[in-house]
Amino acid sequence: MKKLLDVLSAQVGQAFEDCGYDRSYGKVTVSNRPDLCEFQCNGALAAAKAYRKAPVKIAAEVVERLSGETAAEGMWQEAAAVAPGFINLKLEAGFLAEWMGRMAADEKLGCETEEKPQTMVIDYGGPNVAKPLHIGHLRSAIIGESIKRICRFMGNRVIGDVHLGDWGLQMGLIMQAVKEEQPQLPYFDPDFTGDYPEEAPFTIGELEQIYPAASARSKEDEEFSRRAHDTTFQFQNGDRGLKALWQHIIRVSVADLKENYRRLNVDFDVWYGESDAQPFIPPMVERMKQEGYAYESQGALIVDVAEETDTKEVPPCILVKSDGATLYATTDLATIVQRVEEFNPDAIIYLTDKRQEMHFTQVFRVSRKTGLVDDHVKLTHIGFGTMNGKDGKPFKTRSGGVMRLEYLIGEIEDAVYDRIMENRTMEEEEARQTAAVVGLAALKYGDLSNQASKDYVFDIERFSSFEGNTGPYILYTIVRIKSILAKYRAVFGDEAAARAVSDAPILPAGSEAQRQLQLTLAQFAETMDVAYHELAPHKICQYVYELANAFNQFYHGTKILAEEDQQRRESYIRLITLTRQVLETGIDLLGFSAPDRM
Ligand code: ARG
Repeated sequence: MKKLLDVLSAQVGQAFEDCGYDRSYGKVTVSNRPDLCEFQCNGALAAAKAYRKAPVKIAAEVVERLSGETAAEGMWQEAAAVAPGFINLKLEAGFLAEWMGRMAADEKLGCETEEKPQTMVIDYGGPNVAKPLHIGHLRSAIIGESIKRICRFMGNRVIGDVHLGDWGLQMGLIMQAVKEEQPQLPYFDPDFTGDYPEEAPFTIGELEQIYPAASARSKEDEEFSRRAHDTTFQFQNGDRGLKALWQHIIRVSVADLKENYRRLNVDFDVWYGESDAQPFIPPMVERMKQEGYAYESQGALIVDVAEETDTKEVPPCILVKSDGATLYATTDLATIVQRVEEFNPDAIIYLTDKRQEMHFTQVFRVSRKTGLVDDHVKLTHIGFGTMNGKDGKPFKTRSGGVMRLEYLIGEIEDAVYDRIMENRTMEEEEARQTAAVVGLAALKYGDLSNQASKDYVFDIERFSSFEGNTGPYILYTIVRIKSILAKYRAVFGDEAAARAVSDAPILPAGSEAQRQLQLTLAQFAETMDVAYHELAPHKICQYVYELANAFNQFYHGTKILAEEDQQRRESYIRLITLTRQVLETGIDLLGFSAPDRM
C-alpha cells in the first residue's frame, strides 16, 4: 500500500501541474506547527524562484485548484495559502476514516514493503564461547534483533547470524587448563584412535570458571601461557583430540547461550562461528598476494587502506602477523567470502560496540578494494554506545564487576514484580510470569529508545515505571485495549465482537482526540519507512509512545462500551483494534510482547 504522504503529495503535485508548474513541488509533509495545520507543502516557495513569481501567488493558485470540485474531491477539509507561501492542509474527516479502513484491511497495516526484496545478513550477538554473556553483548543482541525484524517486516530475505567467537587463544587457554587438570582424558593422548566420549568432561558452570582462571593464570605464569599458545596452534592445525574437546566446549556453551537468548527473545537463523570462516583464509590471502593487494612489511602481510580524504589515520589492515598468526580482521574478511558464497547478500550489517569502528573501516575497505564483494553490496557497521550506571561510568555490579546478563534480567524482573505486587490483584505465579514479560520490555525499550550510537544510563527505576516513555507504559496501553475488547465480548457476545473487530466501518472522527488517534495511526507507514532506511529502532519507540498517548487521550475522553449508537460503538471497536495491532506490531519489531494483564 502507498504511504499517505505519497498519496497526498501526488494529489498536490497534480494541482501544481494543473497550474502550470512542475509536479515535484507538491511534496507534502507532516506539519511542524500542529497548532496551525496537520500537513503542509512548501513547494510554492521553491517554485517561486524557478518561475519568478511571488510564492504566495503560486500557493493561492494551487489552493484554489485543490479546493475546486474536480481535483481533490473529498481529500481536504482545509487548504490555505499563507504568507510567505506556505500551503497549510487539513484532511477531510471522511477521507481519513476511509484511510483507516484501508490500513486495517492491509496485512502490513499500510506499510509499503520493498519492491525488490534484498538478501541481508545481520551479524549480531557476537558472544564468545565459554565466556559468560555480559552487558557488552546485550546491546548487540537487542538492537540487532530489532533491526533483523524491521528488515524482514519490510519484505526482505534476512539471515541473522550470531557469529560466535569460537576460535583463537581463548579456546587454547581452556583446553590447556582442562589438560592440566585431567591429563588422563583421551583427548590428550596422541596414540588414541578410538571414539572420544560423548559426554563433555565439564558442565557449563565449570566451563565458565575454567576460562577466567586460565586467562588470569596466563598473565602471571609465562610457562602456562606458552603451553596454551602451543595448544592453540596444535588445535588450529587439525589435532584430532583437541578438535573433539573443542566440540564439547562449543556444544555445552551454545546450549547455555541459546537459553540466554531465549530469555531475551532473540533468535538466530544460523549459528556460524569464526571457526567456520577459517578454511576460506588461505585461498583468500593467496589471491590478495597474487593480485598485488597484500604485501610484506616487517614480516607481516598487510593491505593498505588509507584514502586521501581521510581526516584521521587509517592504518593498513594486517592479514597475517610475522609469526604466521591471522587476526580478527582476517577472520572477518574470510567470513565475507563465506557469506557471499552461501547467501550472495545485497547487504551485511554488523552490530558491535562503536570502539570497533576502525576495525570495520579497515575490513570494509579491504573487501571493496580486493573485490570480495560487488560494488552494489552495502556493508554497514552500526557502532553503539556504552550502557552506563547512574554514576556515568560503564555499568557495574554493586561489588564492582561487570554484571552478567542473567543477573541484570533478574534485577529488572524483580523491580517489575514489586510494582505488580503493589496493587496485589494477581497470584504469585502469574505475577512472576508477567514480570518476566514486562521486565524484558522495560529492558529492551530502555535500550532501544535511545539512538544506538549514544551512551545511555541504565536506570531500573525509570525503565520499569508504568508511566512515561517506557516499555511498561506501552504494554499497559495494549493491556488496556485488550481488556476493553474482552469486556465488549462479554457484553455483546462473541459473534458481534468478531464482526466489529474485523468488519465494522471506521466512521469519521467525531472528536479532536479521535482525529489525533487516526492521524497518528496513519503515520505508521512513514515511521517504518524511516526506521528501515535509517536502521533506527528508536524511531519505532518514539512512534509507539506517541500512539499510546494518542490512544489514552481518546480513551479518557470517550465512552466506548457505553456508546449507544451501535454503528459508532462498533467503529470505536474497530479503531482500537487497529491501534492494538499497530502497537503490537511495533513492539514485536522491537523484540518484545505484551501480557494479557498487568
Ligand atoms: N565476538 C566479538 C566480540 O565479543 C564480536 C563479533 C562481532 N562480529 C564480527 N563479525 N566481528 O567483541
